[in-house]
Amino acid sequence: MNKRMVVLGSQWGDEGKGKLVDLIANKVKYVVRFQGGHNAGHTLVIRGDKTVLHLIPSGILHDQVMAILAPGMVISPSALVKELDQLKQKGFEVENKLLISDQATLLLPYHVALDKAREKEKASQKIGTTQRGIGPAYEDKIARRGFKFGAVLYNQDIETDLKEVLDYHNFVLQNYYQAPAVSFDEIKQELDLIRNRLHSKITDTTSLLHQAIEENAAILFEGAQGTLLDIDHGTYPFVTSSHTIAGGVAVSCGISPNAIGEIIAVTKAYSTRVGSGPFPTELIDETGQFIQKQGNEFGATTGRPRRCGWFDMVMAKYSAKVNGFTGIALTKLDVLDGLPEIKICVAYQYKGEKRLTPPNHAVPLEQCEPIYETLPGWQQSTKGIVEWEQLPENAQKYIKRLETLVGVKIVLVSTGPDREDTLWLDKTICQM
Ligand code: IMP
Repeated sequence: MNKRMVVLGSQWGDEGKGKLVDLIANKVKYVVRFQGGHNAGHTLVIRGDKTVLHLIPSGILHDQVMAILAPGMVISPSALVKELDQLKQKGFEVENKLLISDQATLLLPYHVALDKAREKEKASQKIGTTQRGIGPAYEDKIARRGFKFGAVLYNQDIETDLKEVLDYHNFVLQNYYQAPAVSFDEIKQELDLIRNRLHSKITDTTSLLHQAIEENAAILFEGAQGTLLDIDHGTYPFVTSSHTIAGGVAVSCGISPNAIGEIIAVTKAYSTRVGSGPFPTELIDETGQFIQKQGNEFGATTGRPRRCGWFDMVMAKYSAKVNGFTGIALTKLDVLDGLPEIKICVAYQYKGEKRLTPPNHAVPLEQCEPIYETLPGWQQSTKGIVEWEQLPENAQKYIKRLETLVGVKIVLVSTGPDREDTLWLDKTICQM
């Protein structure tokens, strides 16, 4: 049991992080989103009602939770306000339960325009981004021409500074991409949303977290996207622009790596990927279509169909090493119900050689052929099962085999989208 826990995706995102965070946040004081922006789409199903969150941390629906958007995030004010309004319409009043770091970076309409223009220009070479402006917003931050939320409160000249940066981006948009310019009015609207609606939520979240750690408060750090989409440790360039791995928590939040205890890997019982990039176990056949249909594998943010494939143990072991996982939450087991056999990729064949670790570059990774171990499937439904003994024997064998091969304990198995569809194997690890 540990008072600080990270929950993140071990694959290419969409592993079901939202459900897990929501499930274990009932005794947590703070839930912190530490990277990315509204490219994420975390789906929660509570008593049959579906809610998709993009920026707001999934644990916010618990009464005692304060939700924090950390310094490492890129945040669109209009996307955030839209989400707050949608929650309000559903009867969730969370306005006073949200804090925004004054060091978080603004994501503005010119970032979205640049993301779209670039993807259009690259055509078949495109990354397949969510077109939310994430990459361009992080670029501006690193180039030191970004704007922090604190600047809106403290910088008297922010409008002049913003006009300068807007000119710069409009030059690129119009002259390089032949795309329409972004008007200052659009930027002004975002500023107004901060000044009129969000200003009271902007605060020094770093000091707040330091204090919370000193008081030994329970804090849950919620990852977005997945390990294999990390800017440095994913399948570059087909990645997102932030650090999605456990190490990213310390960097983004301004806390010590020593402050982090448990690191839980949310891991799908098979693999999916949205957008372009290498995917060694991809199934471009009827089984792939079966998994896509059964798993409703369509992006929560963009609605795009997700590419589907078998479980990739080479990637899972890599991910476990990069993050130092202390437990696995295995999700969407029920999607595999009815398959005659189930495969696990245990190694790659690359240029005639067997590899147990993935190559670090997209080009050789594209050339890797999976080497599979085949297990018998199960024909019974596992949907909603919450007791180990009730699982079909072949499902038990599959779970145990995954656990043995990764070498990390599976602490829970998710057997459906609802909070209740959860089979706990070790509850102690998630009791904060
Ligand atoms: P970006 O984050 O919008 O720049 O997109 C970069 C890559 O990350 C693309 O392949 C996206 O499909 C992928 N991506 C971004 N956010 C998510 C997510 O929440 N789930 C899964 N994939 C994502």
